[in-house]
Amino acid sequence: MRCVLVSRRLDLRGYFGAELTRIAHLIEAVDHMAARPAHDIRLALAWHPPDDAFTHYPNLRAVCSIGAGVDNIVNCPSLPADVEVVRVVDPAQAELMSGFVAWHVISHQRSFARYGAQQRERVWQRLPQRSAQEVPVGILGYGEIGQRVAADLAMLGFPVMCWSRTAKQATSSVTAYHGPAGLAAMVAETEVLVNLLPLTRETRGILNKTLFDRMRRGGYLVQVGRGEHLVEADLLAALDSGHLAGAALDVFATEPPLKTHPFWSHPKIVVTPHDACEVSPSAITTTLLATADAIRLGQKPPHAIDRRRGY
Ligand code: NDP
Ligand code: OXD
Repeated sequence: MRCVLVSRRLDLRGYFGAELTRIAHLIEAVDHMAARPAHDIRLALAWHPPDDAFTHYPNLRAVCSIGAGVDNIVNCPSLPADVEVVRVVDPAQAELMSGFVAWHVISHQRSFARYGAQQRERVWQRLPQRSAQEVPVGILGYGEIGQRVAADLAMLGFPVMCWSRTAKQATSSVTAYHGPAGLAAMVAETEVLVNLLPLTRETRGILNKTLFDRMRRGGYLVQVGRGEHLVEADLLAALDSGHLAGAALDVFATEPPLKTHPFWSHPKIVVTPHDACEVSPSAITTTLLATADAIRLGQKPPHAIDRRRGY
């Protein structure tokens, strides 16, 4: 089967070339607009496709994302309604995300930003310590990645709460909330809020003043979902008023943010370049191979998203 590589942001062949070569006897990777003839293209690998990308492939059956998130693909105007969109599920990626989130949660718990400031001033000053038990963490999104993050934070001793769209079974270490009432209840108990939601119509702008106001004073935001979840002005106001103590931002509505963006130099914000966790290249080729098999058999590919829900 031939698979077209489509991205206006990344050189997909440059990133995944070795893996694509490894499976070349099963899937032939061809570059967007160089794929001739185009009518035999039934599979695409995409990340931020150009708006008109999919008009070129009339027999396309499935588009695989190179990541867990699919918002940049489902929002592509030329994506036909009946084409499957497939995400990557990669336990190694969830493990990396878990470490990234734990770094920020512990950094807040143990006041590492203050130690950093002290070191720059050559100040030798011990700071009050709090146990993990005193720092409740609320996680927005209890999916493939959220579940791993929740389990690991609970193992470190943090009280962990999770919020999802549908009801979930609580475990001995994770309290489960769902729906709008569940969100208000969870956030009222939350000191560190971790955003691990997909970007959909329902979740766009969810990190806003109403939510921040409900959090405990001195709270902290770890934003690893999508930039469009955040109302930027509301975060700046919450930080500047002292209601929130800080924020770690890995994703942005415009990536990279403009050099003049206030996030870069804000003393209470840590910026990372959408780098919380990478998918392993082998997880991408595993996804491609499974999707190609499903297309051949006329079946729904594993990890195809629900197009109506948007994730
Ligand atoms: P999943 O699709 O596995 O899980 C999504 C979770 O969000 C589910 O628990 C789902 O609820 C919940 N959810 C979705 N919509 C709503 C809603 N309207 N209200 C309440 N809960 C909702 O996603 P992953 O865990 O794999 O990944 C989550 C996101 O993390 C990705 O979409 C991406 O945006 C981001 N990400 C960021 C990375 C980075 O490097 N910064 C890397 C990887 C991912 P339910 O269980 O009921 O369906
Ligand atoms: C993402 C990813 O969705 O890197 O951001 O998987």
